Amino acid sequence: MKRQLHLNLFIQSRGHHEASWRHPSASPFALSDIGYYRDLAQRAEAGLFDSIFLADTLALMDTVGHAASNWLEPVTALGALAMTTSRIGLIATASTTYAEPFNLARQFGSLDHISNGRVGWNIVTSWLAAAARNYGGAGLVSHDERYERGEEFVQVAKALWDSWADDAVLDDRASGRYAKPDRIRPIDHDGKFYRVAGPINMPRSPQGRPVFVQAGSSDTGRRFAARHAEAVFTAQMEKKTAQAFYADLKSLAATEGRAPEQILILPGLSPLIASTEAEAQRMARELNDLTDPEVGRKRLSGRFGGHDFSHLPLDKPLAPEDFPDPATVQAARSRTEVIVGLVSREKPTLRQLLAYLAGARGHFTTAGTPEQIADLIEDWFGDGAADGFNLMPPLLPSMLDVFVDEVVPLLQKRDLFRTAYQGSTLRDHFGLPRPPCRF
Ligand SMILES: Cc1cc2nc3c(=O)[nH]c(=O)nc-3n(C[C@H](O)[C@H](O)[C@H](O)COP(=O)(O)O)c2cc1C
Repeated sequence: MKRQLHLNLFIQSRGHHEASWRHPSASPFALSDIGYYRDLAQRAEAGLFDSIFLADTLALMDTVGHAASNWLEPVTALGALAMTTSRIGLIATASTTYAEPFNLARQFGSLDHISNGRVGWNIVTSWLAAAARNYGGAGLVSHDERYERGEEFVQVAKALWDSWADDAVLDDRASGRYAKPDRIRPIDHDGKFYRVAGPINMPRSPQGRPVFVQAGSSDTGRRFAARHAEAVFTAQMEKKTAQAFYADLKSLAATEGRAPEQILILPGLSPLIASTEAEAQRMARELNDLTDPEVGRKRLSGRFGGHDFSHLPLDKPLAPEDFPDPATVQAARSRTEVIVGLVSREKPTLRQLLAYLAGARGHFTTAGTPEQIADLIEDWFGDGAADGFNLMPPLLPSMLDVFVDEVVPLLQKRDLFRTAYQGSTLRDHFGLPRPPCRF
């Protein structure tokens, strides 16, 4: 069998296009209805996807007047989805800056038990300035400190998940012995940010711990990913940058003593798919006509930590000097690198830039036939740019359905994608080992 692709469905609003929520063909479900997420997770499971993913920001966006979002807290939502799916992996974002490791370790440990080993944790440091105001009001923690704290957070969470041996539970009614206390150990962590005695108060979960996913692509973010991530989401606007990112991260992982195939790189892909390329392009234009540039302008400002872009005219070509230097950005640094890179290369007007970002916020967008999308996937996969994709349908559920019905069979015919689930855990789907019990 050839090397196999991995596919994750990133569920966001009624699709990743900024205007998807108001498109006449978008899902009729309310975005606070768990039925919406259940429906999509089941469709993705029917398409044999490895996983679904729910992102999270810890503040209400200031675009809410004219833009929709996912409203359910993702860890809670995954608990419900675990009960309404049976095979697909379930990945949720949780923050290392605004949570306590003991709480998070319990939540993800519980989810791994509830889902029988299908859970993944998207480890984020939370870049949104507004989030800081909801957690003590001390202001946004700097990019460096967020990653330093994240490093210690992951170390503590791992130690907690490892604090029970696999054979700690006896549950022996006859002898009256429930567990072996010598197979459960405190962690006694005393660090710069956290003091945690442990052990965790639950048995080791089916996967040992959740699959570690990471999505920061700055230099610091890459080094963090190289040490910890088992799957990486990344926004890449073209194949060339995706290849450079792929090569860099695999070699950083090797430097950390890890097997490069145990860190899967999944760039975002947002395809509009139709039976002809012209029809796909027409749909792209139709969606773009529904966008509001002022929503885009606010989102752009948020990525740059609140920088004011209100004075920029919509129809004048942009220059890199119109933006803060990404190296000084404390918010979504790597995404600002992507944006300033695009401005340097293509000199779009602000209106054109916002229209591009409306597609999928700086991820790769394309419009074409199922054949063309399958060709693109095969090309990136075979040419050192991806181990699979973080599928970000511009419109839900229609663009997921057409992907499952038309693109997946082509990938299967080319022997690039599974025709049935082989294992039962997310680690099985991703081809990752279960971390061994440490004592
Ligand atoms: C596909 C994808 C999903 C992400 N999801 C979240 C999220 O749910 N919450 C969040 O705060 N950041 C999210 N991020 C942002 C990253 O975790 C990271 O904070 C951001 O890229 C800035 O870090 P960096 O400068 O190291 O890239 C996501 C990024 C990508 C590419």
